[in-house]
Amino acid sequence: ISLKLYNTFGIDVIAHQFIELEEITEIQSFINKEKDFFILGGGSNILLTKNIEKPILKIETKGKKVLKNSDNDFAYIQVEAGENWHEFVLWCIENGFGGVENLSLIPGNVGTAPMQNIGAYGVELKDVFHSLQALHIPTNQIESFSKTDCNFGYRESFFKNEGKNQYIILNVTFKLTKQNHHIKTDYGAIKDELSRKGIANPSIKDVSEAVISIRQSKLPDPKDIGNSGSFFKNPVVSIAHLQKLQSKYEVIPHYILSENEVKIPAGWLIEQCGFKGKRFGNTGVHEKQALVLINYGKATGIEVLDLAKLIQTQVKENFEIDLEMEVNII
Ligand code: EPU
Repeated sequence: ISLKLYNTFGIDVIAHQFIELEEITEIQSFINKEKDFFILGGGSNILLTKNIEKPILKIETKGKKVLKNSDNDFAYIQVEAGENWHEFVLWCIENGFGGVENLSLIPGNVGTAPMQNIGAYGVELKDVFHSLQALHIPTNQIESFSKTDCNFGYRESFFKNEGKNQYIILNVTFKLTKQNHHIKTDYGAIKDELSRKGIANPSIKDVSEAVISIRQSKLPDPKDIGNSGSFFKNPVVSIAHLQKLQSKYEVIPHYILSENEVKIPAGWLIEQCGFKGKRFGNTGVHEKQALVLINYGKATGIEVLDLAKLIQTQVKENFEIDLEMEVNII
C-alpha cells in the first residue's frame, strides 16, 4: 500500500506489508513471530526516503482511563499509545484536567510523544509525564518507566537513544492538575494573543485556543501541505560564539540557557540565509516559519532531504553552526 496518508509529510512510498493492531496481546503475538519490523505511530516526525521493505506495525490501541490514585488536586490519566495527541488534549480540556493545553494541535499520537519529548509554548511533555509502559521487543516483556528512566531532554529521550528500536511504547500516564493554578502564559506569543483577546485570567480552554490560533497562523496544516513541523532542532551555542556573531549581526534572537550557553532559533538562521518562502521544485521552506520544510504535493523524501542538507551547508558557512535534524530520516 502507499504510505502517503500515513505520514504528515505526505511522501508517497510503498509498504509491502502493513499490519494495524488494536490490542496489546496482538502486539505481543506479532513480536513472537517477527523481530524485524518498522513501528509507525502518527507518522508526524518522519521523512520517508524509500519504500519500506520490513513489515510495518501500526499501533492502533485506544483508550483513556482516570486512575484510582487521582485526588482533589491531581488526576492520573493512563492513555493508550494509538490515541491521537490533540484529541487527548481536547478531552483533557473538556474534563478540566490541566497541563497539556500549551501542547494543543501537535500532530501525532500519544505513544510517540515521549520519544522526542514533544514541546511547545513553554511546556514539554516531561512536565506532565508520570510514567509509561513499553514492550521490550527482544524479550516481549512489558516494562514500566518512570520519568527519570525516560531521561528526557530537549526533543530527546531514552527511546531516541539507548532504547532506540528496542521498545514499543504501549501507554503513557500523565499527572494533570484539577485546580489549574499552573497555567503557563509566559511565552511571548501566548501573552500577546491573550491580551489581544482581552483575557486577563485565562482558563485552560483560553490557553488552548490561543495556542491553536498561533499555530494555525504560522504552521501549515499537514492536511493541506505536507510537513513535519520543525525540521531542525534549535541549536545550542557558546556565549563566546554568540558574541562573535553579534559583531557581524546586530540583533540575534537567543534564549540564555546557562552561564555559557544560549539557544538560537534555527528559523532565524535559515531565514537569514535567504531560504524563507523559497520553493525548490516540489519542496520548499514555509513562508511563515523558516524551520518548517514543506511538500508541495509530489516531493520525494530525497528532494526534501537534499534541501535540508543545502540549508545545513549554508547555515554552517554563514554562522559556523551545525543544525541537527529533528525529524527522523527513514
Ligand atoms: N524566527 C525567525 N524566522 C522564522 C522563524 C522563527 O526569525 O522564520 C525566530 C523569531 O525570532 C522567533 C523565534 O525564531 O521569535 C522563535 O520562533 P517560534 O516561536 O516560531 O518558535 P521556534 O523556536 O521556531 C519552537 C519549537 C516548535 C514550537 C515553538 C513554540 C523546536 C525545534 N521547535 O520553534 O515546535 O511549536 O518553539 O514553542 O524547538 C516542532 O517541534 O515540530 C515544533 C513546531
